Amino acid sequence: MNYLDFNDKELTPTLKELSLLEVRNVCMQCQNCELGKKRTNLVFSDGHANAPVMLIGEAPGAEEDETGVPFVGRAGKLLNQLMQECGISREKDLYICNTLKCRPPENRDPKPEEKNACENYLMAQINIVRPKLIVLCGATAAKFFLGDDIKISQIRGKKYLLFNKIPATVIFHPSYLLRNHSEEVNSPRWLTKKDLTAVKKFIDTL
Ligand code: URA
Repeated sequence: MNYLDFNDKELTPTLKELSLLEVRNVCMQCQNCELGKKRTNLVFSDGHANAPVMLIGEAPGAEEDETGVPFVGRAGKLLNQLMQECGISREKDLYICNTLKCRPPENRDPKPEEKNACENYLMAQINIVRPKLIVLCGATAAKFFLGDDIKISQIRGKKYLLFNKIPATVIFHPSYLLRNHSEEVNSPRWLTKKDLTAVKKFIDTL
């Protein structure tokens, strides 16, 4: 498999001595940006730490903020459905988290200072879970790792190597798919199924 090497970020989190639970506890106290004051719940992760695949989304929405669990709203349900159709088990195969751990008001795009404030938590999650594959779900997660210049429609399905060692790929965000219903060949939904089928194939090689 050919990977596009990508080493812009370093996997050297300041929280590297901590367990996932301890990182979560630090995160629960976090007031490093204004979103900390407004959250109902921290949305740290779902799934188990030994999962082969880490899926990274954008930020919690209203239902995630209510429940403390990522990807449980409409977008999450669609993601679950598409993964199921491609043979991926959310419970068995995935550790799921977001670029931001707190909900931005009105689901607006995360601000640069919010992404910076959350970066150490995400890096710590990656460092501890050490997934075999990272799936960057949507533009916010993809830009966070691959740079602001990327166009999701041009890079989805491509394979990257993050931090010189962890394979990663990019898929459309399910919120985008909620606005694009077509399942025709080469439609965003069709392409996402193709990309998730490739993720399933990767899982099956492990
Ligand atoms: N969208 C995301 O990116 N993450 C969630 O947890 C929910 C919706």
